[in-house]
Amino acid sequence: MADLKEKVILVTGAAGAIGGAVVTAVKQAGGRAIATDLAAGKGIDVALDVTAEAGWLRLAADIERQHGRLDGLVNAAGIAAVGSIEKTDFAAWRRVLSVNLDGTFLGCKHMFALLRKKGGAIVNLSSVLGMVGSANLAAYSASKGGVSMLSKSVALHGARYQPPVRCNAVCPAFVEGPMVDDIASGTRDAQAVKHKLTLDIPLARLGQPAEVAGLCVYLLSDAAAFITGADLPIDGGLTAR
Ligand SMILES: NC(=O)c1ccc[n+]([C@@H]2O[C@H](COP(=O)([O-])OP(=O)(O)OC[C@H]3O[C@@H](n4cnc5c(N)ncnc54)[C@H](O)[C@@H]3O)[C@@H](O)[C@H]2O)c1
Repeated sequence: MADLKEKVILVTGAAGAIGGAVVTAVKQAGGRAIATDLAAGKGIDVALDVTAEAGWLRLAADIERQHGRLDGLVNAAGIAAVGSIEKTDFAAWRRVLSVNLDGTFLGCKHMFALLRKKGGAIVNLSSVLGMVGSANLAAYSASKGGVSMLSKSVALHGARYQPPVRCNAVCPAFVEGPMVDDIASGTRDAQAVKHKLTLDIPLARLGQPAEVAGLCVYLLSDAAAFITGADLPIDGGLTAR
């Protein structure tokens, strides 16, 4: 288990499957998690719409006041919209790009000054669909390609500081949870689609949120001090072929 003792870690999308698992794993590793999602409430410390710049600025000022620094940021908020290039309307495209790419941009941008105070690490939730294409998730694939490349740019900038700010993209294949359920339920035969997703994965199963969270915690920890600018697949072998 990686060690996050005394580290303050901000997590977006913390009411979701992966964000929630990250919060749990951060705490298990001895860290202090600040859990955010659209609405505050059970398990969520702060309401933050990742597309709203003013909210990020407010939160940065609060963290500065309370902790004086930030050690880690996990951008896990995200949405998917099923649709090929022909079936995706412009409004859906904008919604997906706004949450997945603008939200990640705003998080990296407005938390950077706090992260570079003592050095830190950013983990952005990209996807295998940022590495390989998908005919029926046009907007989502584009957004995750953007997240992966943005992460490399942030990593190269963060490497200029001493101590550095590292930044990596985690690229899961399909993971058990509401996002896959929603994608499948938007099709004619949800069970068949979920089964097909599993068939595409050499290890023949979907991922578990806790498995993705474990990789995030490792990347946040000092054990990953020489890893930055990487796209790390956690995909049961999907991108190996
Ligand atoms: N589940 C998968 O199969 C899978 C695979 C690869 C990558 N990912 C990525 O991992 C991340 C987490 O996915 P998940 O499975 O936990 O999804 P999820 O649907 O369980 O959770 C996503 C969370 O994001 C929040 N959210 C949506 N819009 C928001 C906004 N504007 N501001 C703040 N929060 C917002 C939702 O309220 C929700 O709690 C996403 O970026 C997703 O694209 C997921």
